[in-house]
Amino acid sequence: CMVRHYKFNVVLKNTSRLCSTKPIVTVNGKFPGPTIVAREDDTVLIKVVNHVKYNVSIHWHGIRQLRTGWADGPAYITQCPIQPGQIYMYNFTLTGQRGTLWWHAHILWLRATVHGAIVILPKRGVPYPFPKPHKEAIVILSEWWKSDVEAVINEAMKSGLAPNVSDAHTINGYPGPVSSCLSQGGFTLPVEAGKTYMLRIINAALNEELFFKIAGHQLTVVEVDALYTKPFKTDTVLIAPGQTTNVLLTANRGPAGKYLVAVSPFMDSPIAVDNVTATATLHYSGTLDNAATTLTNPPPQNATPVAANFADSLRSLNSKLYPAKVPLKIDRSLFFTIGLGVNPCSTCVNGSRVVAGINNVTFVMPKVSLLQAHFFNTSGVFTDDFPGNPPTQYNYTAASQPSTNFQTETGTKLYRLSYNSTVQLVLQDTTVIAAENHPVHLHGFNFFEVGRGVGNFNPKKDPKKFNLVDPVERNTISVPSGGWSALRFQADNPGVWFMHCHLEVHTTWGLKMAFVVDNGKGPNESLLPPPTDLPKC
Ligand code: C2O
Repeated sequence: CMVRHYKFNVVLKNTSRLCSTKPIVTVNGKFPGPTIVAREDDTVLIKVVNHVKYNVSIHWHGIRQLRTGWADGPAYITQCPIQPGQIYMYNFTLTGQRGTLWWHAHILWLRATVHGAIVILPKRGVPYPFPKPHKEAIVILSEWWKSDVEAVINEAMKSGLAPNVSDAHTINGYPGPVSSCLSQGGFTLPVEAGKTYMLRIINAALNEELFFKIAGHQLTVVEVDALYTKPFKTDTVLIAPGQTTNVLLTANRGPAGKYLVAVSPFMDSPIAVDNVTATATLHYSGTLDNAATTLTNPPPQNATPVAANFADSLRSLNSKLYPAKVPLKIDRSLFFTIGLGVNPCSTCVNGSRVVAGINNVTFVMPKVSLLQAHFFNTSGVFTDDFPGNPPTQYNYTAASQPSTNFQTETGTKLYRLSYNSTVQLVLQDTTVIAAENHPVHLHGFNFFEVGRGVGNFNPKKDPKKFNLVDPVERNTISVPSGGWSALRFQADNPGVWFMHCHLEVHTTWGLKMAFVVDNGKGPNESLLPPPTDLPKC
C-alpha cells in the first residue's frame, strides 16, 4: 500500500456563473475542488491550509475512519475548526474500502463550493465485479447561488424562516444555459459510439435530492456510497445530498449525436418548491458542431413513484467476494423520529423560528469538540442521555396532523453504544409542520437498509418483511417523506460519530445528534490518541 500526499489550500477565487462574478471559497482555486485518487488500503495525508477569513474543517464523507475519528472532520464534533492562517494534516487509511466517495467542508455552509470527489480504486489486480469500462468520468451535482451563501443562511437564521433556494443547479460546476443566462456553456461529456463508460455521480448539493437522466440512454447502477450493488437498469437515477452512485453508460445511439443530460430536484414535501435545473451534453465523437441536441423531460418535482421505484431497486451485490454482512441479532433497537418543529424566538419575524430535531431534541453545537471531551473525559460538554425513543406524548404520526406539540427541547445529547454492539435504528419522518425529505448520513459506519415504507412504522408487522439477505448498504439514506427507513449496523468503530440530515438547512435547524461508541477491550479496539497538530478551539 502507498501513502498519498495532497495539499489543500483553502482560498477565495473569483468565479463567474449565471452571467455574474463573485468570490467563492474553494480548495486550490477550483470549483468543484480537486479529486483525491487512491487505492484500497492506502494511507492518505491531506495538508489543509486555511487562507480565508472563515473557520474551516473538511470531512471525508463515507471514509470509515476506523479508530481515527480525529480525521473525520465535522467541526465541533471530532475537531475544533482550522482557524484562519492555521494548518491541519488529515491522516487516515482506506481500510477495506473501494469506490466513489467525496469530501466537503463541514462547517457553516462552506460545502456549497468546498467539495470534490474521492476515487478509491480496488487493490492492484482486483477487477471491478462488472465489465471494465472504456473510460470513467466524475459527475458532481451541486448548486449555485448568485448571492453570498453564508449571507443566505445567516438571514434565514435571523428571521426564523426558511432560506432561499439556489439560483441554479450545476453539473461539474456549470448550470448549462438557463433563461436568466442563455450564453453560458455547460459541461460536455465526450463519448465514442459503442463504448461503455462509468460515471461516478456525486450529489454535493446543499439542500436537494436530485434526479439524473440522459436523453435516449439507459444507465446501469453498479455501486452506491462505495459499495457494489446488484446491477440494474434505469433511465432515471435518484441521488440525495451526500450520496454517490456509479453507473455504466453504453454509448449505443451513435455513430454521432448530442444528448441532453438533465438534473432536476426531487421534493415531494408539500411545503418545498424549487424548479431550478442543470443541463450538460453527452457528445458523440464526430458530431457536427451545429447538430441538434436530443432532449429529455426530467421527472416532475413530486415524482414520488420514480423515486420509490429507484430506492426499491437497490440491492447489495452480496457475492462471494463482497458478501452482505447484515447483523442478524440485535443488541440495541432504536426508534428515532426526524422532523421539523417551531420554537419561540423573540427577535424573529413571526416570534418563532423553524427548528428540526431527532426524537424531539434540537441538537445544540458544543463550543469544543465532542471527541476531545470524550477522549479526555471533560465533563460539561455533552450528556449521554439522548432518548432511544421519542417522548410518548410526542405526535410523530405520519398520517395525522400534529396536535399541540410543535416545540422541541434543546441540548447536546449523545447516545452511548458499547463496542461491537449491533444496532437497529428505525428513522420515522413526522408531520410536525409537514412531511419532508430527509437524507440521513451516519459518520464512521456503513449501514444496511433492511426495510422502508410510507406512513408509520409498524413494529409488529414491518420487521417480518425485512430483507436480511441482500439489503442495500450505504452511508446516507433518503428516508421517504412521511415514511420510515429501518437500518442496521455494527458499532465496531470507537469514537464520536455524527448523524444528521444531509440537507444543510435541516442540519442547521438542528436535525442532528451523535453516537459515542466506547472502546473495546482488545488491542485494536480503541480510539487512537489525537494527532499533535489537532486544532484548538
Ligand atoms: Cu457529508 Cu456530516 O456529512
